[in-house]
Amino acid sequence: MTVTIVGSQLGDEGKGGVVDLYGDAVDVVVRYQGGDNAGHTVVHGEETYKLSLIPSGAVRGKVGVLGNGCVVNPETLFEELDALAERGLDPDVRVAERAHVIMPYHRVLDGIEEDAKEGLAAGTTKRGIGPTYEDKAGRRGIRIGDLLDPDTLRERLEYVVPQKRALAEEVFGVETDERFDVGSLYETYREYGERLEGMTVDCGTYLADRIDDGDEVMLEGAQGTSIDIDHGIYPYVTSSNPTAGGACVGSGLGPTVVGDGEVIGVVKAYLSRVGTGPLPTELGGVKGQTPGYDPAGTPAEQEELATYIRDEGGEYGTVTGRPRRVGWLDVPMLRHAARTSGFTGLAVNHLDVLAGLPEVRVGHAYELDGERRLTMPPTTERWGECEAVLRTFEGWPDVDWAEVAAEGYGAIPENARAYLEYLEEELGAPVYAVGVGPGRDETVVVENPLE
Ligand code: IMP
Repeated sequence: MTVTIVGSQLGDEGKGGVVDLYGDAVDVVVRYQGGDNAGHTVVHGEETYKLSLIPSGAVRGKVGVLGNGCVVNPETLFEELDALAERGLDPDVRVAERAHVIMPYHRVLDGIEEDAKEGLAAGTTKRGIGPTYEDKAGRRGIRIGDLLDPDTLRERLEYVVPQKRALAEEVFGVETDERFDVGSLYETYREYGERLEGMTVDCGTYLADRIDDGDEVMLEGAQGTSIDIDHGIYPYVTSSNPTAGGACVGSGLGPTVVGDGEVIGVVKAYLSRVGTGPLPTELGGVKGQTPGYDPAGTPAEQEELATYIRDEGGEYGTVTGRPRRVGWLDVPMLRHAARTSGFTGLAVNHLDVLAGLPEVRVGHAYELDGERRLTMPPTTERWGECEAVLRTFEGWPDVDWAEVAAEGYGAIPENARAYLEYLEEELGAPVYAVGVGPGRDETVVVENPLE
């Protein structure tokens, strides 16, 4: 059977914790999209591991697969494997031969294009994700399988690299270096190919065989629904499909196989966002990110709430320390996510962050052109015109959440349960797990689909 984990907001919903929670019972953990843009921290025993590409399950002794829908930077892959080896771990990581390779020129171009886009910039991670998917769609990409075949690798490089060099130099006026040189790239990537020998798989066939042998497979989505290239707030999106359809296309398993399993939507109990663009349920604002933000014109109560949630939830960039924008839960966004991926269960995280507030609100609907709507409009510009129609819940007290986790769902304060039950009703899926703290044990497990 398969269990697919999908982010239902803008990424950073705490998917890693859910992967961890259910991961013990699985044999194989597969990433089906994205690349080393998905920073995740894995706590295992006394040790903390920071990874951006390797699936977290690999640290826990599961087979970790980078599916064909991923874009793989071999440099990051081997850096992470070497760092784990130094700490005594030898994870079993397989890489789909159909996955595309992030080349050094992709990273360079990601940076150049972001700078050139100004107002339209998505605030990318500059890891070359978008340019690599562009080349995949443009049929000029280099795949993992090509690294194993030196003649094909050279042929592909000879075709694509002069184009990339011309783009950088002639369109963007940037000087190029060995990252745009066929000979140098050929040598480096042929060596990566040698190192990849024995690690590569025909992903769909490999997974189908494992399932036939009775293994449990987890499909781990990175990022979230609202930054999905098809279903997200274009152009402020990533270049892949974090939604459950991506799990089929990006792994080589059919929709009937994925649909026969469970699809768990991960929801953070409030909303956070990095970067610019609309956010109808935003509280307060962050200078340089919230469009048209004027601290003097924002009610003090909203600013205080925003600061409280930001601090309690640790909503600051892990690398930059930059404050993230925060807001109430956007329920139209969640309805959109539940429909797009067909959630069979929900994991709601960070419920403890809202504890102690006298009232908790959600954006239940939007008001647009004088009409009420329950789901997101298809364009980001129209989304920016939506006004949130708020619904108020009575707050819940701060309690000993570790105790709650140990006792189970019934120990969750009543008003918080009302909040969860509202979500179940609106999204048409039961709550399987509730995150009430950062620790591995601080989760209330209602249902384990693998048991
Ligand atoms: P890219 O994936 O680097 O191309 O970035 C495109 C957009 O997706 C940017 O707005 C990033 O901030 C966002 N993004 C990419 N990966 C993540 C993630 O793991 N969590 C949250 N946002 C992400």
